[in-house]
Amino acid sequence: GGGPIVTELLQCGRPKLPAKAIPPYQCCPPVSASEPVKFTLPDASEPLRTRRPAHAAGADHMAKYERAVALMKALPRSDPRSFYQQANVHCAYCTGAYRQVGHPELAVQIHFSWFFFPFHRAYLYFFERIAGKLLGDPGFALPFWSWDVPEGMRMPLAFANVSSPLYDPLRNPRHAPPKLVDLDFSKLGEKNLTDEQQIQHNLRIMYKQMISNAPLASLFYGQPFRAGQADKPGAGTVEIYPHNTMHTWTGDISLHNVENMGVYYSAGRDPIFYPYHSNIDRLWEIWRDTTTVSGRHGHAATVFTDPDWLDSSFLFYDEEARLVRITVRDVLDIDRLRYAYDDDGAGTPWLDARP
Ligand code: C2O
Repeated sequence: GGGPIVTELLQCGRPKLPAKAIPPYQCCPPVSASEPVKFTLPDASEPLRTRRPAHAAGADHMAKYERAVALMKALPRSDPRSFYQQANVHCAYCTGAYRQVGHPELAVQIHFSWFFFPFHRAYLYFFERIAGKLLGDPGFALPFWSWDVPEGMRMPLAFANVSSPLYDPLRNPRHAPPKLVDLDFSKLGEKNLTDEQQIQHNLRIMYKQMISNAPLASLFYGQPFRAGQADKPGAGTVEIYPHNTMHTWTGDISLHNVENMGVYYSAGRDPIFYPYHSNIDRLWEIWRDTTTVSGRHGHAATVFTDPDWLDSSFLFYDEEARLVRITVRDVLDIDRLRYAYDDDGAGTPWLDARP
């Protein structure tokens, strides 16, 4: 095997769903009347979208996100910008619904490989722009759930309000605020730590997965996945935990597959998915910065130069409902994507949590 992974709309078919999946069972995007257009960077004159931590973003910012989700939910299901179709994007890329071009026996799967960070970045990029478009606010930025810092270690209140469009009944009721997150949560049981112990535990987990266990790009990003190869070659440190474990922490553990957040096919159905993943995306930026600053290796080593990674591409519908092909190479510079992270009220306290 070898070469970039290229996804094609016509290669999307039946997803492989786990037993007892909750319908709908179809997750491929609507077909487009025209060929996908090549991604182009937003104009440099566009307002910079500044993503803020949910706990510090302020009620107005959270209300905007709430309104955006309500507007997306109100679009017809046939509209690729609807919340229904946006949630399905995750399903299609994570259940083997997309087959590899030229290798129909092999699945495209963006988890457990070096596509984990770039795929989710592209996904949020389009989601955020669709939200901004529906709001009529070209500067709209996603809030991020900064579960890695003590102030963010609870589910943000806006998501726990039963009457909000941000609410999802398929979550673990024991983990509603003010319960603290457990970054290496296991289905086997609660740790029953005091709040102070849980915070220290979480900070150490962050240090371990961002610093001690991830001194090399391959360890942080995950293993190469090329055309003609079997999916899930191996995940990077942060993907395994806190990423996977926090999905399980959030979902409803009494359900067979821990829906919605706890399983790939349904994770995008919970509106917390997007702020949740924005924090993962922010951690990618922090990892690139800290590895440079600490001087363990130069900036060049914080991304791969392998064309099989850089030229791999995914399909998304943009805010104009145009089908766009975007490559990994396209998403490596968030400044050029016209968004940024405002770390006021978040920061990286775990950098001091060396065990
Ligand atoms: Cu694509 Cu957090 O999973």
